[in-house]
Amino acid sequence: MRAAVVTAHGRPPAAAEHPDPTPAPGQVLVEVTAVPITPLDLLCASGTSYFGAPTLPYVPGVQGVGVVREGPSHLVGRRVWFASTAGMAPGDGGMAELTAVSPADLVPLHADVPDPVVAALGLSAVAAWEVLQGRARLLPGECVVVLGAGGVVGQVAVQSARLLGARRVVALARSATAREAAARRGADEVLALGDDDEPTALAARIRDACGGDGADVVVDPLAGVAASAAVLALAPGGRLVNLGSSAGATLAVDSAAVRSRSAAVLGYTNNALTAERREEVLTTVLAHAARGRIGVDHTVRPLADVAEAWQQVREGTARDRVVLVP
Ligand SMILES: NC(=O)c1ccc[n+]([C@@H]2O[C@H](COP(=O)([O-])OP(=O)(O)OC[C@H]3O[C@@H](n4cnc5c(N)ncnc54)[C@H](OP(=O)(O)O)[C@@H]3O)[C@@H](O)[C@H]2O)c1
Repeated sequence: MRAAVVTAHGRPPAAAEHPDPTPAPGQVLVEVTAVPITPLDLLCASGTSYFGAPTLPYVPGVQGVGVVREGPSHLVGRRVWFASTAGMAPGDGGMAELTAVSPADLVPLHADVPDPVVAALGLSAVAAWEVLQGRARLLPGECVVVLGAGGVVGQVAVQSARLLGARRVVALARSATAREAAARRGADEVLALGDDDEPTALAARIRDACGGDGADVVVDPLAGVAASAAVLALAPGGRLVNLGSSAGATLAVDSAAVRSRSAAVLGYTNNALTAERREEVLTTVLAHAARGRIGVDHTVRPLADVAEAWQQVREGTARDRVVLVP
């Protein structure tokens, strides 16, 4: 089969011939129709992730969309979203014409949403929704601040906050393209992040944008200065949930800010979700997508372009989420 094959850690995969997968007992064979290139794929393939360096060669792709071709009769022919541990555990992932998946990692698709859109949303959308609903326990009428609001997590968080009843959604993003995306997805106010932001001044802008006492909930895929400022802008009882480190490995937590307001700084990982909850959240998000209430910017490219597309994602020059079509 044709597949994206990583042969050196830290180097983009190349489109190449690769042996067809042999499903282990209980696994099903999925014909892949759409697979995104995500930050987690790049992290795993770099060989520097906390999962350890993957054995080479391997096919990356921690999630995707396809149709079950071999397996139990009730699954054959079903359109599915799938998750894979490629790059985190031995074995190949979804960036290929075929992939082997355990049934527990399949989510049957019912919503009328095109495969590339499902692939673009995927786990980033699950995280955005679950950070708000499950981790921050967003209440109707609260002010939600979304950092890095032009990315997939960010765009979906802006839309989900609204659907979950937020009174006001404030978006922060660095590039003009990202700010435009956040505004288009429905943010009430969009603030620019700069290279020289000073936490206290940025916190004042966030508090002003929220009005009232400040930010009730912060969705933080960035860490770094923006997250440190958002901690300072938390309202009494506010919750900042960190789920990524796109802007830095650490965020500063001002003791007085969290103590005086009984605020909380929380972490989030999709890896702690049960398969049932992951399916429930993805199905909810896709139902909203089918009604046009949740969408995300993405670009569809053939699998043959994987080396160039991967490099663009790595350099930050990809316009939006890249979805490969085998
Ligand atoms: N914990 C979990 O379970 C989980 C799940 C999904 C994602 N994540 C993490 O969440 C993060 C975002 O994921 P994603 O899928 O939304 O990725 P994405 O679509 O690539 O978005 C990343 C965003 O981060 C912004 N960004 C990058 N570096 C920045 C910097 N130095 N300062 C300010 N903004 C910066 C980018 O802004 P520009 O548009 O301006 O370039 C982009 O909008 C990643 O770190 C990912 O690993 C975690």
